[in-house]
Amino acid sequence: MMEMTDRFCRVFHRCLSSHALLYSEMVTCNAILHGDRDYLLGFDAFESPVVLQLGGSDPADLAICAKIGEQYGYTQINLNVGCPSDRVQSGRFGACLMAEPALVAECVAAMKAAVSIPVTVKCRIGIDRNDAYEPFAEFVSTVHSGGCDLFIVHARKAWLDGLSPKENRDIPPLRYEFVQKIKQEMPTVSFVLNGGLQSHDQAESLVSDCAVELDGVMFGRLAYKSPWMLSEVDSRYFSQPVRQVSRLDVLERYLPHIEKELAAGTKLGRMTRHMLGLFQGQPGGRLWRRYLSEHAWKPEAGVEVVIEAMRQVESATTRPAA
Ligand SMILES: Cc1cc2nc3c(=O)[nH]c(=O)nc-3n(C[C@H](O)[C@H](O)[C@H](O)COP(=O)(O)O)c2cc1C
Repeated sequence: MMEMTDRFCRVFHRCLSSHALLYSEMVTCNAILHGDRDYLLGFDAFESPVVLQLGGSDPADLAICAKIGEQYGYTQINLNVGCPSDRVQSGRFGACLMAEPALVAECVAAMKAAVSIPVTVKCRIGIDRNDAYEPFAEFVSTVHSGGCDLFIVHARKAWLDGLSPKENRDIPPLRYEFVQKIKQEMPTVSFVLNGGLQSHDQAESLVSDCAVELDGVMFGRLAYKSPWMLSEVDSRYFSQPVRQVSRLDVLERYLPHIEKELAAGTKLGRMTRHMLGLFQGQPGGRLWRRYLSEHAWKPEAGVEVVIEAMRQVESATTRPAA
């Protein structure tokens, strides 16, 4: 997610789950071909497995960028066919590619020929006011013929005329049944459900509540705003034993990464901004958020800011009720 799932966020999320598949922000082909690649693509092996999401629609450029992504150590390459922003539309990629399934198939085929890691597509169920299921099914079938075996589907349309990107994540109605239906029709293709998921229980019931089980779920905003939910991922979805860890244990795990980044010159606030929701709904949660927001962006801020915020939460938790 743009401006969110940068490498600092992903290291933090990896401290919460060893198995969740994490995604990069969308990186455009133009940026990779002409920009600072290490800055755009570099990541810490600790974050793995990480999927690199590309934005583009030129098959040759995408093939080159997929290869570069593979060389950087990404686990999969994903093509963005869901972003509705004007900037992305004017570059003829993102959600507007839902109208060009043959081109998307060509892009997938070119990327697949260039790499040996999986190439996947993240799409919507449609664009603009057309509510029908058939164009979505045709899109999937055409892109599958280009070699895509895994689709992550944000189960709402994007209205490219008149809604902002933010509105396009909330206003078009969710149609989970489109994803369940296509899985039934194409059981050998993998489908991951995304969009508006509010809990693991809800996600698990949507996965199994259809004739053929879906292949996974993707959490976006919930995982970012309430990262503690990631601590259940390994046991719920990957058959790992339940680990008795606390939020403070997770932070203890993250502290050495913070220290390493600070030593490399990264500002503390770039890391702590992803941690603000860790204690959401918990005693001390507001203190945590406020302390980090007030102190982490100061020029000299170091790891002691996080340690003090942890101490404040801990004392709020252990303080006897008045
Ligand atoms: C700030 C923000 C940035 C996003 N950036 C991307 C992106 O770069 N690529 C992408 O495929 N989806 C992006 N999304 C969409 C999410 O991946 C997800 O599809 C959408 O928010 C619906 O899922 P959710 O309800 O679980 O958040 C972004 C969402 C938000 C809120």
